[in-house]
Amino acid sequence: SGDVYFGALRRTGNFSGVVEQTPYGETLVQLGLNAHDFCLKLQAGETFTSPAIICGYSNSGFETMSHNLHNFAKDFILRAGLRPVLYNSWEATEFGVTCEEQKKLAKRAQELGAELFVVDDGWFGERNGIENGLGDWYVNEEKFPNGIDELIKEVKSLGLLFGIWVEPEMINPDSDLYRAHPDWVLALPGYTPLTGRHQFVLNLNIPEAFDYLLERMSWLLGEHAVDYVKWDMNRELVQPGHQGRAAADAQTRQFYRLLDTLVARFPHIEFESCSSGGGRIDYEVLKRSHRFWASDNNDALERNTIQRGMSYFFPPEVMGAHIGNRHCHATFRQHSIAFRGLTALFGHMGLELDPVSADEEERAGYRKYAALHKQWRDVIHHGVQWRIDMPDATTLAHGVVSPDEAQAIFLVSQLAMPDYTLMAPLRLAGLEASARYQVTLLDHPNIQITGEGGHTMRKLPAWMTTPQTVSGEWLQQAGLALPILDPESAILIGLQRV
Ligand code: DGJ
Repeated sequence: SGDVYFGALRRTGNFSGVVEQTPYGETLVQLGLNAHDFCLKLQAGETFTSPAIICGYSNSGFETMSHNLHNFAKDFILRAGLRPVLYNSWEATEFGVTCEEQKKLAKRAQELGAELFVVDDGWFGERNGIENGLGDWYVNEEKFPNGIDELIKEVKSLGLLFGIWVEPEMINPDSDLYRAHPDWVLALPGYTPLTGRHQFVLNLNIPEAFDYLLERMSWLLGEHAVDYVKWDMNRELVQPGHQGRAAADAQTRQFYRLLDTLVARFPHIEFESCSSGGGRIDYEVLKRSHRFWASDNNDALERNTIQRGMSYFFPPEVMGAHIGNRHCHATFRQHSIAFRGLTALFGHMGLELDPVSADEEERAGYRKYAALHKQWRDVIHHGVQWRIDMPDATTLAHGVVSPDEAQAIFLVSQLAMPDYTLMAPLRLAGLEASARYQVTLLDHPNIQITGEGGHTMRKLPAWMTTPQTVSGEWLQQAGLALPILDPESAILIGLQRV
């Protein structure tokens, strides 16, 4: 509830945001180009258009804000259709990419339910780690003796789409491209350019550098059966300069031109904008892309809050949400497959794990949650999302209701030990008050079942053991009683109008 004034800048990368309180007690918000690295000399008669802001007002809280933004994306920007379940090889192999290994991964990924196979970083140049190869967009012949077509053929024979990773605007000092063109770096004379993740930024304002990338990307996408591109961006623009002037804005415009040209040339290809590391989750890049990778932190516990934050501004179908290995790649924490699977359910689902070394129990879990996602994907990708306020800050609840309000799916995640000894009821939202709904417990942690018979904390509310039909009004006003849940576990509830 309450007033919300909201805005999102349609600009990728460096920007400036200012929030001030005026002496009159008003709040002043400015969003726009960052004057620090912006410079433009207009000739007589020339014009310049600054980035736009999407903004609005809601007198009914953040949910209306999110619905308006989500609807804007759905109605005016996004492609129709359902996003395919993706498999990404990064956390399985990192830079140790070889054709044979990737073929094995693809086969296993297909068995688990993936529909799209993405080979990540490491397939090109001398790219054996973060220190080398960026800029050399030629297939590494040691890793792929017969080119990448061999892998693509295998992927397609499995009935999967094929995707590939690139980070076009970057150049490692240890690369053939840099050795040939050290002057192609986005830098200012008099300042030593700074590396980030051992890479410089390629100056796209230099026509030869731009043309080189356009030619290499057109070769990659035009001469191979590529369906999907993961376009990475792993550093900020620092001291970006061209011809002695600040050039962050000019660089971003050239990035748009490059991507626009590729989108026009290869309209069937979907582009993923990765990542927030380069400030690449925004409504302007969304016009050219179909999905965002929110963070490399794929720890299911962390992901709950990362994804919740993202949900305020972007609809579920553009949010990459991956099931990771039991041992999280980023934090080494361990979570049950149920918690990982349910956390990844409400987005553009992906699998980012090693299906070859995983045991059968894990693999059964991956299969189960990929199938569950597909079963509910239409609702998740086309429905209306609701975040539910819970009085206990350790509990997060959210769900999606189909546009006709006939079906809904809600998740309750317990992040830590509850603060209170009793769970508050789950008051759902978005349902038709006068309708009746069949309430089904779709998934729950094993722990709920044990400990009954005296263990009050584990007592299950009746609806969890006996199917119930409940009115939309009751579900929204009185709500469903919840059991105490263990930290880092979740329950999934399905609703069907009867
Ligand atoms: C950062 C991305 O977020 C990862 O998923 C992976 O693609 C690496 N870059 C590869 O270098």
